[in-house]
Amino acid sequence: MQNIFHTLSRRVSSGRGRIAGSASLVRVSRFAHPAGDLHAASTIVAVTAGPPEERPPHTPADLNTLEPAVWPRTSGRTGGAVTIGGIDVRDLAKEFGTPLYVVDEEDFRSRCREYRSAFHDGEVHYAAKAFLCREVARWIDQEGLGLDVCSAGELAVALSVGFPPARITLHGNNKSLAELEKAVQTGVGHIVVDSFEEIARLGFLAEKHGVRPKVMIRVTVGVEAHTHEFIATAHDDQKFGLSLSGGAAAEAVRRILALPQLELTGLHSHIGSQITDVGGFEVAARRLATLLVEIKEEHGVVLPELDLGGGYGIPYVTGDESLDVKVIADGLREIVTKVCEAAGLPVPRLTVEPGRSIAGLSGVTLYEAGTVKNVEGLRTYVSVDGGMSDNVRTALYGAEYTAVLASRESQAGPMLSRLVGKHCESGDMVVRDLYLPGDLAPGDLIAVAGTGAYCRSLASNYNYLPKPAVVAVSNGQARVIIRRETEDDLLRGQL
Ligand code: LLP
Repeated sequence: MQNIFHTLSRRVSSGRGRIAGSASLVRVSRFAHPAGDLHAASTIVAVTAGPPEERPPHTPADLNTLEPAVWPRTSGRTGGAVTIGGIDVRDLAKEFGTPLYVVDEEDFRSRCREYRSAFHDGEVHYAAKAFLCREVARWIDQEGLGLDVCSAGELAVALSVGFPPARITLHGNNKSLAELEKAVQTGVGHIVVDSFEEIARLGFLAEKHGVRPKVMIRVTVGVEAHTHEFIATAHDDQKFGLSLSGGAAAEAVRRILALPQLELTGLHSHIGSQITDVGGFEVAARRLATLLVEIKEEHGVVLPELDLGGGYGIPYVTGDESLDVKVIADGLREIVTKVCEAAGLPVPRLTVEPGRSIAGLSGVTLYEAGTVKNVEGLRTYVSVDGGMSDNVRTALYGAEYTAVLASRESQAGPMLSRLVGKHCESGDMVVRDLYLPGDLAPGDLIAVAGTGAYCRSLASNYNYLPKPAVVAVSNGQARVIIRRETEDDLLRGQL
């Protein structure tokens, strides 16, 4: 089985956290369990590890550098320590404790404004699932964006701060009757229909409440989005939407148009998340616009709206691509305009639903380093006081992040590290492979960039860890927007 082995020979330098000795020769089965051979039965005498071969972690010339593409817009270093929104992270840690989610309010708001200006002739709905709390709902309202929600809970957060229901869209592949009723009663702007059952339920609810809700149809456009399998949503074999190629979308149009209680305003597509290849968005836009043309031909109905969803990727580590909002907006507008004009159709009003690309880079997680464990010949495990309960994305999607020593600068050499949490799981990693300064010690603060989206919202209480607080920083002021959970919170609701 010669071909299932490959030989690695790596020259390494010594020092804490680095592989001691010089080169070591190993034979590693590509198909072996990453933990090694069963019961350590291996005849392999030495193992070596290093950066993953396909994508080694970036070693910055200076480990103290905060690369502008991945850190919040107001971040920097003052007197060695990282500052965000004009506040020293050591002060944040002292006042609010760690782990701590820090949100750069100016960064968040400025991205809202960029979307608003790029889609000045359309609508921008922030996708609440990326990160929502009452204060964020207020920011979204103040910046003039709409809001996408996908559960009664998200809707309740928005309504609790008086978010105008007309600017809310309700999504979901399995909305309950109660959720649909709540949406119909509160008069949310749009409900995106995701199944035939829902059409019947909405018809019933509309009649019951004497209203005529605006609905859109979620169309599965058959695009293979280039992203992690779990967050690609437009290929046919999955739970979301009604298939374009299989004819379910066209059938949904027929059924809704047959119900005078419902107002069909347009079509919707969301191809997935963390997508940096704009080609997928373009194909989706073209296919939806083509369906608009077919609907006009079959029913003589011109639908005025097209919702192209979210999914715009952000850079997490050096070398990741950044998408330009204006380029996206211009590109989508051009495609839809071309298809519609060629068919003599008025150009529909475009809506987009960015979540990650508004919230993601505004957020940083601050941890305190606990144990620093050098596993001889392998790497250094730096444990922090949180982990997969506050950021499950590394374990769930193999997500990559950038982290730095934040409480001080260091001139020590790079140490190949794995930033791990305190949970009882080997997969509990925050950053799988990164370089940290070789003098990193317990008590140092570590900041992880790009945690503003899908970290707090996917957080859990695994191992009964309380969820961290979220603090908004702006112009030298910090305020808690979600307080830290306490042990009382953890016990609440139990007999
Ligand atoms: N619209 C719809 C209908 C969606 O389902 C989503 C995300 C968005 C908009 C916003 O997508 P964004 O612009 O944030 O990519 N937990 C995963 C991401 C799941 C996204 C679910 N839907 C992650 O951590 O990467």
